[in-house]
Amino acid sequence: MLDRYVHILKNAGIVAFPTETVYGLGADAWNTTAVQKVFDQKGRPADNPLIVHVASEDMIPQFAKTVSDDAQKLMDHFWPGPLTLIFEKEEDVLDIVTAGLDTVALRWPMHPLSQDLIARTGPLVAPSANSSGRPSPTRPEHVLEDFGDDFPVVRAGETNIGLESTVLDVSAKPYQIYRPGAISTEDIGEVITTKVNETTSQPKEDAAAKSPGTKYSHYSPDAAVRWLEKDANLSDPETLYLLHNKSANSSDSNVIHYKQDYEQMAHELYDRFRQADRNNYTAVAVERINDDTPSNSHITIALINRISKAIG
Ligand code: TXA
Ligand code: MG
Repeated sequence: MLDRYVHILKNAGIVAFPTETVYGLGADAWNTTAVQKVFDQKGRPADNPLIVHVASEDMIPQFAKTVSDDAQKLMDHFWPGPLTLIFEKEEDVLDIVTAGLDTVALRWPMHPLSQDLIARTGPLVAPSANSSGRPSPTRPEHVLEDFGDDFPVVRAGETNIGLESTVLDVSAKPYQIYRPGAISTEDIGEVITTKVNETTSQPKEDAAAKSPGTKYSHYSPDAAVRWLEKDANLSDPETLYLLHNKSANSSDSNVIHYKQDYEQMAHELYDRFRQADRNNYTAVAVERINDDTPSNSHITIALINRISKAIG
């Protein structure tokens, strides 16, 4: 079933494909023409670098200049999986991929179809397969919403996690998380002892310079996303309410309650954002999540990050 997509990718074309996080927009990482099409299709600023997706050990040294002991431990433990690592780059890596930085982002995705695809095409750059600024796609239909019905998509239903990978810079001292994801700082701390700095909600200027993606607005539907304060009521029929903790016994179709299941909330968040637009809601109000929200899951950090950015 992948033949058609392999053919397109080997001929400098672009194809959307599933990963365990979100759908990616793939292109041959060694072909400037192909990579340029990714930027054009998304309307992505040229100074925002791409993640190179690999699917075997031998693809790594083509991109990473050196792999430290810590990086090797993280790769052994979390790859394939939702962790992107930033390395000092090999000289030949295309400037268009790294946006001229001297580092390169690498990830080995877990989804079997992404692995089969990359095994046949070679390394693929793959940003999320959405128009720049829109919520990342977690279903094939989301890709078609942004890129049109004829766009080539390797279809595999819903993605599992629903939020993009954790981005960790192991070329920086101290190590720096630019984007929180399903793999948390605590998870990383169980594998390496070196200190890791977390993202601050307002990225400092130096973080913006090192990871340009952090400075752009992201993940936004047309409906206005906002936090819902504790005692607010749920009375606006044109607002989609996303709750997780507060007591509410509404059976209205515009009130969704995740009952502290933050993994499910992450899994559905972008689809809910897009659903708001399809159903002409004017706003999405998300019950505020903060540090004292009771949770047995680390993904709340990633949820707060994405919702805050969607609010802008
Ligand atoms: O889960 C994911 O990571 C998905 C799937 C498709 O794999 N991909 C994804 O790619 O989210 P994208 O392009 O939407 O986000 C990549 C992020 C951006 O914030 C970008 O700025 C950052 O990674 N990034 C890429 N290369 C970098 C580098 N060399 N240094 C710092 N940040 C980098
Ligand atoms: Mg993206």
